[in-house]
Amino acid sequence: MEKFIIKGGKPLHGEVVISGAKNAAVAVVAATILSDQPCVLENVPEIRDINACVKILYEMGASIKIIDKNTIRIDTRGITDPVVPYELARACRGSSYFLGTLLGRFHKADVPMPGGCDLGDRPIDQHLKAFNILGATHTIDGGVVSLRADSLVGSQIYFDIVTVGGTINAMFAAVKADGLTVIENAAKEPQIVDLANFLNSMGADIMGAGTDVIKIRGVKYLKGVTYGIIPDPIEAGTYMVAAAATKGDVVIKGVIPKHLESITDKLRKAGATVEEFDEAIHVKAEGRLMKTSFKTMPHPGFPTDMQPQFSTMLSTADGVSVVTDSIFDNRFRYVNELRRFGAEVTVEGTTAVIQGVDELKGATVKATDLRAGAALVIAGLMANGTTVVEDIYHIERGYENIDDKLRALGADIERVNYYDKSRMAV
Ligand code: EPZ
Repeated sequence: MEKFIIKGGKPLHGEVVISGAKNAAVAVVAATILSDQPCVLENVPEIRDINACVKILYEMGASIKIIDKNTIRIDTRGITDPVVPYELARACRGSSYFLGTLLGRFHKADVPMPGGCDLGDRPIDQHLKAFNILGATHTIDGGVVSLRADSLVGSQIYFDIVTVGGTINAMFAAVKADGLTVIENAAKEPQIVDLANFLNSMGADIMGAGTDVIKIRGVKYLKGVTYGIIPDPIEAGTYMVAAAATKGDVVIKGVIPKHLESITDKLRKAGATVEEFDEAIHVKAEGRLMKTSFKTMPHPGFPTDMQPQFSTMLSTADGVSVVTDSIFDNRFRYVNELRRFGAEVTVEGTTAVIQGVDELKGATVKATDLRAGAALVIAGLMANGTTVVEDIYHIERGYENIDDKLRALGADIERVNYYDKSRMAV
């Protein structure tokens, strides 16, 4: 087991380069199942979730060539049996995308219910609704979702709730279906647009990605391409917040500022200085930040994946901030750990009330999920004294080399191995 030891209280300063987007890459990696030729994916982040998804493809019969740490050649022509191994699927939420891609190619799929962060209920009813509308039947037995379809026919799909995964899986099932599919109330996140660009570069016919109506005309053939993944807006936002939270001065490079507009807006409201360049964002903060209330919303609203980090930054702001997470019903699990630093936060349902305190003091805490883990690292950077963050494997699911990148920004952070005594019991 590994943990981070952080000696906090030091402002971050310097430059950090952002890696490829986890939530775009998991979708694009799964989408290679639909390709009739090999694909080369560039700017793929070297993180656990991607390793898990690539391992699933390999176990199913794909041939994988790691060209360099961020470039992978994937040839899925060797996959003949659309069954995802149980123990591997549990490793990440992105495994749900094998439902749509295997159905789209084989008209059948057997995929274990997806894993991923424990943020409360993670249903897939809207995914199944889309598959049913396109012509597939589904059963769920022993935690495995089985889809079968004689054919997939383009149809009208209206999502009852805006769902990133549901939108992506509907795109996967529709891209080679017969005729026109119209997806309404679609998610508009950057990874939806990136995925549509990838599929269209292969020969798909997808219009409207990034709006709430996506039109897909089914095609018979998708050629292999070389494709670069977009930069990760959540990784970028995490470093933007870390810079402001530590009263630092950081240039975040290799980003698309438009993807970060809601984060930039809220940081400015909190009193940070944020300057946008073509492919970089400069964040500075001096003195105490100001209370800032916000509600997470589907893109282009404030992203739920930035809620733990931003709320942590507000724990030493001047005044009371009110944060509501309208996307997930249990995304404040990290607050118990945050209180160990001396933060004063009360949680009622999906709303947290954060009373800014003068300072945080170092503590020993456990990451409970990916973004919560990143938030606890930010708390450690903010706090006076020493912080230990355990269970950092959660963080490594979605952040490439986070300790190296933070060290390069002046953070005193060390990665150490430790044996969890409870696991040593014989
Ligand atoms: C994706 O999860 C991301 N994961 C999440 O990022 C992100 O928080 C989320 O989108 C929202 O932006 C990946 O891309 C791998 P949803 P997803 O379907 O697709 C409900 C991270 O930290 N819902 O948009 O699972 C659902 O319960 C992770 O990188 C249904 O009710 O999220 C939630 O309340 C965490 N029925 C809301 O919709 C469904 O069929 C949004 O979920 C599907 C979803």
